[in-house]
This record gives sequence, C-alpha cells and structure tokens, in this order.
Amino acid sequence: MSLPVAHTHDPVAHPASGSDLTPAEVADLEAEIRALARAQDAVILAHNYQLPEVQRVADHVGDSLQLAITGRQVAQRTIVFCGVHFMAESAKVLAPEKRVLLPNLSAGCSLADSITAESLEDWKARYPGHAVVTYVNSTAEVKALSDVCCTSANAASVVRSLPQRQILFTPDRNLGAWVKAKVPEKEVVVYDGCCPVHDVLRSASVTRVKAGRPDAVVIAHPECRADVLEIADEICSTTAMLAAVGKHPEAHTFIVATEHGIVHQLRQRWPGKEFVIADGCIGCRMHCPYMKMVDLLMVRDALRHGKHEITVPADVADGARRALERMLAVPRDA
Ligand code: 13P
Ligand code: SF4
Repeated sequence: MSLPVAHTHDPVAHPASGSDLTPAEVADLEAEIRALARAQDAVILAHNYQLPEVQRVADHVGDSLQLAITGRQVAQRTIVFCGVHFMAESAKVLAPEKRVLLPNLSAGCSLADSITAESLEDWKARYPGHAVVTYVNSTAEVKALSDVCCTSANAASVVRSLPQRQILFTPDRNLGAWVKAKVPEKEVVVYDGCCPVHDVLRSASVTRVKAGRPDAVVIAHPECRADVLEIADEICSTTAMLAAVGKHPEAHTFIVATEHGIVHQLRQRWPGKEFVIADGCIGCRMHCPYMKMVDLLMVRDALRHGKHEITVPADVADGARRALERMLAVPRDA
C-alpha cells in the first residue's frame, strides 16, 4: 500500500496568521465564515491547539477523537476540520458519507509521520502473535493495519481489554511507556516514534517554572517524557485537562505541559485561574507549527472553494474504521 502524499508537512508553508488582521477585519471574516457555513450546511470543528481566532469561530472545539465523533453525530453534511491531516482523515473515516475539508493540506503531524504502513508491516513481521494498538495520531493506512486504536485518554483501558498478552504499541514511545507501566500484566513492545513538541520538554524545565510557584498543580499530556510525567499531578488528554483543573479547587496556578494552544480553552473554562505553559515561554518550544497552519482566511476559503477535500480509499477507510470502532467499544475502566 502506498502512503497518500496529500500534505507536504513543510513548516515554511505557514500562512499569514489571522492575528495580522485588524479587529474589524476579524469580525467581518467571522461573520462571513458563519454565513458561508450556514449556506453550505457545514459544521466547523477546531482542535484545542488551533489559533484562538479559529477556536472562536468553530462550532465545536475539542480533542481529536471527540471531534471525529462529533463530526459523525452532527446533522451538517460538510465538516470543516481545523486541525491536522490525520484528524480530518479520522473524521472522514467515521463519517464517510460527509464531505470533510482540511483548510491547509500542509498541516501534518510529525508523530503520525513517524510510522508508515510499510514500517508497521515490517515491525509486525518481527513480532508474530502480537496485537497492534495504534494511537489515533497516525495515518488511516497505519490504523487499517492495526487491531485497535487508542487515544491518550483510553490507551491503558484499550491495552487491558485485549485478549492477547503480547502487544505492539505505536507510534508514540512516551505514551507507550506510560501505558506499559500502568498495565504490567501485559508484555508491551513500544515503537520509537514521538511528538517533538512534547518530547523536547524536560523535568528540569518544569521544576524551574514551578520554583516560583510552589503551590501550582502540574498537568501533563502523556506524550511528554517519563521524567515529566513523574512530577505531574495530572496526566491527561487535552480535553481531559479542562476537567482536571476542577479536581483542584484550592489551586490558583496550573503548569501545563502540552502545546500552548490549549491555554485559550483553559482560560475560557476557568477565567479565575492562572495557566502557565511548562517551558515558561508561550510560543517557543511547546509550539506545534502544524497546528498553527490554519487561519481565518483559510477557513473562509475552505468554505468558498471546497478546499481541501479529504478522501480515503475505501479499503483503507474500512480497516481504519474497524480499528476505531473497536476502540470505541472498549469500556473506559476495562
Ligand atoms: P489530544 O488527542 O489529547 O487532543 O492530543 C492531540 C495531539 O496532537 C497531542 O499532541
Ligand atoms: Fe502532532 Fe505533536 Fe503537533 Fe500533536 S503537537 S499534532 S502530536 S506534531
């Protein structure tokens, strides 16, 4: 099977950010986007890491899986997916009858690209009898070759639910190591992929940020390295972070170890609290260039010109859907 080369993943292809626009231009664009969406029977979905102005214009903001499920449930026939390529692909796989648009085809994901269908085939051949668990941050082709998918929210439950004792976990090595520690009864072999945005963070940086805020609660995404997870008070997916804040009513400050776009949603939900990105520097290290490749002009043009329609070959979509549906059937506490 060949890998679809729908996106270039070239960070240089970064568009002009919507933040270059004046507030009046932004307001006009937002109104135009909403009118176009109504006229085209479209729903706008945005990931938690998207630019704040894109999150504001969206009908639903959430994590990758939540958005794909929402896309399937809503009545609209067109989904404008403001996120990265694998997320729009998952939305298409779960709602094949709908038109799914990704405003910028260059919006890829280093983690999803760290394993191809060919490299997974090779890896599987070296471990006969192992069940393959694949994180949703992966291409549809890789999902189609997997027994079941998982998210950062349900990875341990999915691994625990499988009849096989021997598991191949792909592609994220940090999430895989975390799951392996949580499910010691399984023999988990972990693939060597990672998200550079999370993998770059070290516990020393988190400790430095915490030094001036000793009472702060540390919330980390499981794509972070083990040394960071060890000092985290909460480990969860992006959307689960919003609820995790509520578990610490006494705390005022939260140190967040994930991509800085999540701060927009955290501030919306918890206006009285303070959120600091774990590296202490919004916009430098914990910055996903792919997640910032969609701006308001692109959302408008996606609706105006039907750009860019995501297609998944039927055999690949069937296989990926099977792996995703198996995941959705796993009870959360399995
Ligand atoms: P979530 O599924 O937790 O939103 O994470 C997606 C992602 O890309 C993390 O880097
Ligand atoms: Fe991919 Fe990492 Fe960006 Fe998430 S933050 S989309 S895993 S590169």
